[in-house]
Amino acid sequence: MLEMGKLRATGGFRAAAPRMRAIESKVRIPFRMASSDNSTPAALRRFAWGVLGYNVAVIVWGAAVRATGSGDGCGEHWPLCQGTVVLQHPTIAAMIELAHRATSGIDVLCVVALAIWTFRAVPKRHLARAWAVAVLVLTFNEALIGALLVELGLTANNASPARAFYLGLHLTNTLLLLAALTLTAHFLSRRSGAMRGSFAVRAPGLALTGLAAVLVVGVTGSLAALGDTLYPAHDLWRAMSRDFEPGSSWLLRIRWLHPVCALLAGVFLVWIAARSLGRAADQRLAAGVVGLLVAQYAVGMMDLALLTPIGLQMAHLMVGDLLWIALVVLCARMCLVPKAAVVAAERAAA
Ligand code: HEM
Repeated sequence: MLEMGKLRATGGFRAAAPRMRAIESKVRIPFRMASSDNSTPAALRRFAWGVLGYNVAVIVWGAAVRATGSGDGCGEHWPLCQGTVVLQHPTIAAMIELAHRATSGIDVLCVVALAIWTFRAVPKRHLARAWAVAVLVLTFNEALIGALLVELGLTANNASPARAFYLGLHLTNTLLLLAALTLTAHFLSRRSGAMRGSFAVRAPGLALTGLAAVLVVGVTGSLAALGDTLYPAHDLWRAMSRDFEPGSSWLLRIRWLHPVCALLAGVFLVWIAARSLGRAADQRLAAGVVGLLVAQYAVGMMDLALLTPIGLQMAHLMVGDLLWIALVVLCARMCLVPKAAVVAAERAAA
């Protein structure tokens, strides 16, 4: 009150602004950060969430490339398609693969723009800066793994363990990239606790185990998807019995791992969500994680029962990505608690 009175007496906030800027230049702390972390331009926050959404679309289109067997649509050329920029008589496979490459190229421009804008908009110790750098590194990795898959001929009907290894690596990198994008957008949107040292760390082991469990589910899923693509079945009974025949490909014989890992990971995710239900601000997010988990189980079972039609494969990957994004935000909110909130909670508990 005294401070407000003084401000009014000396000409209000507008009159005080030049003095504040003068002090700011001396002590080198931007006032917008000293008073609150939440000074990020709304347009940057929207752009960050938009880039995340665009990435999900590019990834889901990647599943269409695999499911339609179009991975070699451009031949063993990268980044050019069939060694040229303009295709004269493109096949459908070439168009699907080319669309994937074009949308991925636009994506590179988007993540570079996001990093530059973030560095310009937030100060040095802001966590969004670190995550924006991680996004650049993981995008570069993503392109490298994609290029290696093509250059090493690990596309189309290739059923080698090397292909399975690179696909697992690809999916892991993809999920880490989505996590880095999510955390960039999340920290840009935080009201407080976005600066290094401005939050307390709570239950990191629980969150990291939950995230690792979903990563394992994703990798086993990408191997199941490869098995479905290489050895399509025409009826469900035949598809299931093949999985346990000694003469079947190893890719089919490990397919059971995916639903089993998904069920085990699901129990863990429900536990994380249940813990978060106690915090009023996280209740909707925790309910969203459980809702997406149930939806993912439903789409997964339909996918299996209908012998993995392309549309359901894409839907399963999309819901899986959304579940992962929601879980990353929930874990960030659960583990990296703004210090003011910790003090308030401790006072409330006392
Ligand atoms: C936590 C829950 C789950 C997650 C995060 C998950 C994630 C995934 C991922 C990432 C893929 C690879 C998609 C691709 O590379 O295109 C996949 C494939 C697959 N999943 Fe799941 N899944 C889950 C639960 C289930 C369940 C409960 C079933 C059914 C029993 C199931 C059935 C399948 C099948 C049949 C495939 C291969 C065909 C396809 O690509 O759609 N999933 N899953």
